[in-house]
Amino acid sequence: MKPSTLFSTSLLLCGLVVAAPNEPRQARRRPPFTPPGGINANGSHTPFYHPLSDFDFQSLNLALNQEYIELDLFNYGLARFSVADFEAVGLTAQDRYLIQFMAEQEIGHAQMVTNMLGRRAAKQCTYTYPFETVREFVDFCQKLTRFGESGVYGFLEHLDSRDAAQLLLQSITTEARQQMIFRQFEGLSPMPVWFEAGITQSMAWTLLAPYLVTCPAENPRIEWQNFPALNITNNPNATAFYNNSILGNDTAPAITQNRSEPLSYPGREVFFQWELPGKNVSYNNSYVTNTTAGTPRFVAWISQLNTTFTALRNVNGQSGSTFQPGGTVFGGNSSPIVNGTMFVAITDANITLSPSNISMLNPHIVAGPALYQSG
Ligand SMILES: *[C@@H]1O[C@H](CO)[C@@H](O)[C@H](O)[C@H]1NC(C)=O
Ligand SMILES: *[C@@H]1O[C@H](CO)[C@@H](O)[C@H](O)[C@H]1NC(C)=O
Ligand SMILES: *[C@@H]1O[C@H](CO)[C@@H](O)[C@H](O)[C@H]1NC(C)=O
Ligand SMILES: *[C@@H]1O[C@H](CO)[C@@H](O)[C@H](O)[C@H]1NC(C)=O
Ligand SMILES: *[C@@H]1O[C@H](CO)[C@@H](O)[C@H](O)[C@H]1NC(C)=O
Ligand SMILES: *[C@@H]1O[C@H](CO)[C@@H](O)[C@H](O)[C@H]1NC(C)=O
Ligand SMILES: *[C@@H]1O[C@H](CO)[C@@H](O)[C@H](O)[C@H]1NC(C)=O
Ligand SMILES: *[C@@H]1O[C@H](CO)[C@@H](O)[C@H](O)[C@H]1NC(C)=O
Ligand SMILES: *[C@@H]1O[C@H](CO)[C@@H](O)[C@H](O)[C@H]1NC(C)=O
Ligand SMILES: *[C@@H]1O[C@H](CO)[C@@H](O)[C@H](O)[C@H]1NC(C)=O
Ligand SMILES: *[C@@H]1O[C@H](CO)[C@@H](O)[C@H](O)[C@H]1NC(C)=O
Ligand SMILES: *[C@@H]1O[C@H](CO)[C@@H](O)[C@H](O)[C@H]1NC(C)=O
Repeated sequence: MKPSTLFSTSLLLCGLVVAAPNEPRQARRRPPFTPPGGINANGSHTPFYHPLSDFDFQSLNLALNQEYIELDLFNYGLARFSVADFEAVGLTAQDRYLIQFMAEQEIGHAQMVTNMLGRRAAKQCTYTYPFETVREFVDFCQKLTRFGESGVYGFLEHLDSRDAAQLLLQSITTEARQQMIFRQFEGLSPMPVWFEAGITQSMAWTLLAPYLVTCPAENPRIEWQNFPALNITNNPNATAFYNNSILGNDTAPAITQNRSEPLSYPGREVFFQWELPGKNVSYNNSYVTNTTAGTPRFVAWISQLNTTFTALRNVNGQSGSTFQPGGTVFGGNSSPIVNGTMFVAITDANITLSPSNISMLNPHIVAGPALYQSG
């Protein structure tokens, strides 16, 4: 059927439905000045903000676990460190209130996803965090919110429930602002890229899993793949605090800071260590890491709209290295692909991917992803 025929058939059907009894006419009519096409756009759709498949349920279940750790993390950081600790790295009472407000946002986000999931919704867990200082807390927050945000961008498009996607989108754009603010608290550029990357649920789960210690037994199992852990042993470290007003050196909180010595650059050698599959991880040690990939041969760099591969070199057991790639999103002088807080994984193949089919990378992941602090 030609598209034009399809559209006129829909319009005809639409006319018939408008005439149906027991429904207010307004509610069933295509809104004025609305061109043909669109999904759930013809006035006949009653919103249903619940999962429509196991895929939806498990995607939202993962998102809820992410919202809960953010709620705990922001409150924990505020309670763990003293006012003097925060002030010493330039974070004021108003900045601390903003973090408190972010925790309150997470109450709302968890409530919203719980409403969508109903009585099977997960409850909050206990967590472990890898930081000892305020700067490390802020760094961990910008990393955790990076994979929370990217984890949702990776699946929104694939949900069966467009209505659930709508609500989740409205929470994740808020989380995107949190991620940016934590970068500013760390004296980083708030947004050194043109596009924020999406990753798969299994990648997000792999990154989240290590921080969950115990969860209630009734929490629904998280069914995504948990890949073997990947460690970047020379990850650029953004936590150093210099409050010296020297252009290109100052890393104090700011709307934005140029770093004349960037955290990373194309050609930088990056070293990795990774685990073998079969390790019990995450809450109550109740998940087992898994891979279906073969021999480790490449490093996938997931950033902006692109997945770029470089050769994995000097492989020795579960360690190896590579060189950070260059390249720009649209070639020429467009945005350098590798920047910001982004993702790397060890793979067995070099395949062509774009944002809507990035899940095709899952079967090829040997280990990771890990977060690379490229800028
Ligand atoms: C309205 O659009 C939906 C798809 O979004 C379609 O399934 C349905 O048949 C359409 N209804 C009418 C009356 O055109
Ligand atoms: C940063 O430096 C300025 C100027 O020297 C000083 O006034 C301010 O107290 C310093 N802030 C912190 C957190 O060290
Ligand atoms: C995990 O352990 C805690 C503490 O022992 C226990 O309360 C909880 O039911 C356990 N959860 C699971 C999923 O086994
Ligand atoms: C990652 O490697 C660094 C450098 O060897 C090490 O200090 C760190 O403990 C490792 N992290 C993990 C989680 O293994
Ligand atoms: C990062 O740098 C800070 C400050 O220079 C230092 O205290 C910390 O140990 C470093 N972290 C890592 C993982 O190397
Ligand atoms: C910033 O200055 C400090 C000394 O104040 C120095 O130790 C550090 O290496 C400088 N960092 C950069 C990125 O230039
Ligand atoms: C900031 O960095 C950009 C890009 O390297 C450069 O063009 C600009 O001059 C820098 N601005 C300042 C104030 O350092
Ligand atoms: C990342 O972006 C920042 C801010 O524009 C810039 O200073 C830095 O050089 C960039 N880093 C890389 C690796 O391109
Ligand atoms: C590892 O996890 C699996 C799957 O949940 C479980 O059956 C097994 O008992 C766990 N092993 C340990 C040592 O906790
Ligand atoms: C990964 O999971 C599959 C399916 O459950 C299983 O057959 C396989 O043995 C697992 N592989 C590893 C390396 O644990
Ligand atoms: C990955 O494959 C593409 C297309 O075949 C090729 O251009 C590129 O050189 C390959 N990259 C590596 C690291 O082998
Ligand atoms: C990056 O991804 C975009 C969108 O898929 C594509 O148009 C562009 O060609 C890619 N850039 C590179 C260097 O592969």
